[in-house]
Amino acid sequence: MRPLFFILMTLGLFACNQQNDQTQSLKNKIDSLESKLADTYKPGFGDFMGSIQAHHSKLWFAGLYENWDLADFEVHELMEAIEDIEKFHEGREETLLIGMIMPPLDSISNAIEQKNTALFNSSYTSLTNTCNQCHKAVDMEFIIVKQPDTPPFSNQDFKPLK
Ligand code: HEC
Repeated sequence: MRPLFFILMTLGLFACNQQNDQTQSLKNKIDSLESKLADTYKPGFGDFMGSIQAHHSKLWFAGLYENWDLADFEVHELMEAIEDIEKFHEGREETLLIGMIMPPLDSISNAIEQKNTALFNSSYTSLTNTCNQCHKAVDMEFIIVKQPDTPPFSNQDFKPLK
């Protein structure tokens, strides 16, 4: 009886030790993944705003030349940037305000669908006003967005294909 007891005891301890080793190695893996995640590059709020600024400007010239396909593309780029802000900057005070930009974007989307230049122009004004309203709300009223005078890039033709 006795030897059998010791054998079972030893086997039990061995199995237990092995499990502890596995748990420890999983813990180490999680730790190293966590520190890798913390070091992953995440675009800042201002980086997204820089991209929004470019698409806001391109959108204007797309509408001006009635290049509705490009205008539609630019509106969706803006919507994607908003979604990215909501995803990557979830929970920030500023992010809670970003939704105010959706109604004017929807209205521009409608104008594009109807190829309605007058509605496009008035919705664009309301979009620009909303940019500034939000900047005011986050105490950054010194960031003033306006309707652009010149295309943001000289290497892109905003006129539609004939
Ligand atoms: C949440 C509300 C909000 C809305 C809506 C918003 N912004 Fe901003 N914007 C911010 C915040 C916050 C910053 C400062 C980001 C930072 O901390 O770097 C900013 C910064 C900027 C900057 C400064 C970036 C720079 O480097 O000079 C520009 C340009 C800008 N926004 C353009 C726009 C445009 C164009 C729109 C509308 C299409 C818009 N923003 C709508 C909150 C908003």
